Amino acid sequence: MPASASSLLDLQSLTSQDYHDLFFLAESLRAKARAPRQLGETLALLFFEASTRTRMSFESAGFRAGLGPLVFDGGHRTSLEKGETVEDSILNISAMAPRFVVIRCGDEVDLRAMANVLSVPVINAGWGIQGHPTQGLLDALTMKTKWPVLSGKKLLIVGDIKHSRVASSHFEMAKTLGVEIGQCGPEELLRTQGQHKNIFSKLQQGLEWADAVMALRFQFERHDSSVRLSKEDYRNQFGLSAQSLKALKPDGLIMHPGPINHGFELETEVLADSRCQVLAQVQNGVYMREAILRWMLGER
Ligand code: CP
Repeated sequence: MPASASSLLDLQSLTSQDYHDLFFLAESLRAKARAPRQLGETLALLFFEASTRTRMSFESAGFRAGLGPLVFDGGHRTSLEKGETVEDSILNISAMAPRFVVIRCGDEVDLRAMANVLSVPVINAGWGIQGHPTQGLLDALTMKTKWPVLSGKKLLIVGDIKHSRVASSHFEMAKTLGVEIGQCGPEELLRTQGQHKNIFSKLQQGLEWADAVMALRFQFERHDSSVRLSKEDYRNQFGLSAQSLKALKPDGLIMHPGPINHGFELETEVLADSRCQVLAQVQNGVYMREAILRWMLGER
């Protein structure tokens, strides 16, 4: 059987039972630590794009689960500097027989094709704009802490939705969990083709509709000349601030996957709002990633 059958590349392949098991496991690990498995196996972390939260929380989750992290971080002082390809790097590190390979890479890598040829299961740790499934799961875990049943809850995603792998994973997950997703941002950065609904051009209207809001990082590096709004206009129209968040329910949730562009998509003052979950998301990331590793190892 190819390892792709036991890989985690997206969220559309998960069933309702899978989500239930993952949330249950993550919540039980958050309530009470489990003993790590006997050490002796490794968890390869291959990051071809920058990361702080995902890489370090997978390292932490690996230790907690009993898989020794084997970190390949960026290109500095690796054979990528000598012209080795990303694909060859993945093949060679997989040949060291880690239990899983956790990979962050750009759209230019065909991660699905790689998973089909590897004998080691692959975990997508952020793949171009295709998806960031473990981020989607930790966001859902954060929302579930407040609302055990997510079906019918309304999540407003604000900002650069078109280029966001986090948004891609939320759209996949919403179908099974029954979360309603709304979009707000400059028209050229939204996903408006197909079945998308709940599109808001005014932040206030979107916030009044939402139970939770998630601001996304404005991905300057992925933009072209189609982005017409100036930074100042973007901040004024779509930035989350103490003032704009008056429109969100008093018991609503404020999220951001990080990293944050302070004073742009989110004002620093928002971090002190009692509804803000930014660091809770990071903390939940460790439990969710530990749960994913243990779940893929067959634990329930
Ligand atoms: N949220 C997220 O993926 O953060 P990093 O890029 O720091 O991993």
